[in-house]
Amino acid sequence: MSDSLDAFAAEKLAGLDAASLRRRLVPTARGPAAGAERAGRTLVSFSCNDYLGLSHDPRVIAAAAEALARYGAGAGASRLVTGNSPPLAALEERLARHKGKEAALVFGSGYLANLGIAPALVGPGDLILIDELGHSCLFAGARMSGARVEVFPHNALEALEALLRAHRGSVRRALILTERIFSMDGDRAPLPEILTLAQDYDAWTLVDDAHGLGVVEPGPRAPLEMGTLSKTLGSYGGYLCASRAVIDLLTSRARSLVYTTGLPPASAAAALAALAIVESEPERAARPLALARRFTARLGLAEAESPVVPVLVGEAEAALALSAALEKRGFLVVAIRPPTVAPGTARLRVAFSAAHSEEQVDALADALATLTPDRR
Ligand SMILES: Cc1ncc(COP(=O)(O)O)c(C=O)c1O
Repeated sequence: MSDSLDAFAAEKLAGLDAASLRRRLVPTARGPAAGAERAGRTLVSFSCNDYLGLSHDPRVIAAAAEALARYGAGAGASRLVTGNSPPLAALEERLARHKGKEAALVFGSGYLANLGIAPALVGPGDLILIDELGHSCLFAGARMSGARVEVFPHNALEALEALLRAHRGSVRRALILTERIFSMDGDRAPLPEILTLAQDYDAWTLVDDAHGLGVVEPGPRAPLEMGTLSKTLGSYGGYLCASRAVIDLLTSRARSLVYTTGLPPASAAAALAALAIVESEPERAARPLALARRFTARLGLAEAESPVVPVLVGEAEAALALSAALEKRGFLVVAIRPPTVAPGTARLRVAFSAAHSEEQVDALADALATLTPDRR
C-alpha cells in the first residue's frame, strides 16, 4: 500500500538532489565557545544564533537544572490546564519589563507564537501587509488568519503606503508584519517610518525581534513585539510582549497557546537567567555586532547592521561547495539555499557570537578571501 508513497518521496528527493536543494541532518555536538564537533573534528561554528554564547553559560545551565529538578522535565499539558508554572510567570514579567510593555505571553516556540498571534487578531475581511523577506512562520500565521495577505517589497515604504492607501478603507483591521533584524540578510526594518505609517492608517504593527533582542539597540517599540527564547537567550520558546488587554485576549484566543503543551519550566528558567545576563552585561551584548563589523571591514563588505552577515554566492551548488571548503579549514558556516532565500541568492549566513575571539573572526575572513578571490 505504501509503494506509491515511497515512490513519491523518492521522486521528490531526486528532484531536490538534482537542484542541490536536498537538506540533511548532520550529526553535530555543539559545545561551549562556539565549538561544534563533527566527524571527530572540532569546528568553530559561525552558524549558530546563540549570539551571546548563553546556551552554555554556567549560570543559565544552573538555573535550568534547578527548575528541572524542582518542576520536572515537562509541563504536563497546556498552561491553561495544568496551571502556570512559576518560571514561566517570572519570565513573562521580566520580558514585559525588558520591552517596556504591560505584559508578555510565552509560547512553545517563536514559530508557534507567530502561528497564533495574527489569527487571534485579524481574520476574513481584514488585511495583513507583510515584508517579502518575513520569516516563514510570519507568512504561515498570516495565511492561517484568513485575512487578505499583501506582500510588500523588502523595506519598501512607498509600496507599503500604496497598499495601505489602496486597501485600508475597505477592511476592518490592518496588521503590518515585519522583522527588526531580517534573519537571512541581517539588515534592519525602517521601524520609525513603518510605525508612523501604521499610525496614519490605523494599522497595527507586529515586529519579529527574533534576531535583535539584546544584540542591537532596540529603537522604537511596536505595539506587538514578538520574539524567541532560542537565540540570544540560549534556550527554547517564544513570546509576545504587548498591552495587558492584547495579552489577555491572546491567552484565550491564540490556538498555538491554548491547544499545545506549555514550555518546559527549565527552558523558561534558562531564558530568565539569560535575560538577566543580557541586562547586566552590556559589554557582552555589544560584542557580536562589533565582531560582525570587524569581519565586514576586513572583507570590504557593507558594514554589518547586526550579528548576521550574508555572504552572497548565487547558485545553491556553489554555496554548498564554499561551505564544504570552509569546513575543511575548520569553520562551520552553513549554506542557506532556496526556498529559505530567493532562487539565485544562495549564500553563506555568517552569525557572530560573543563567544568568538577576534582571531577566529579574522581567520574566517581570511579563509573566505582566499576561497573567493573574485570578491575583492
Ligand atoms: C525571524 C524569525 N522568527 C521566528 C523564528 C522562529 O523562532 P523559534 O526558533 O523559536 O521557533 C525564527 C527562527 O527560528 C526567526 O528567524
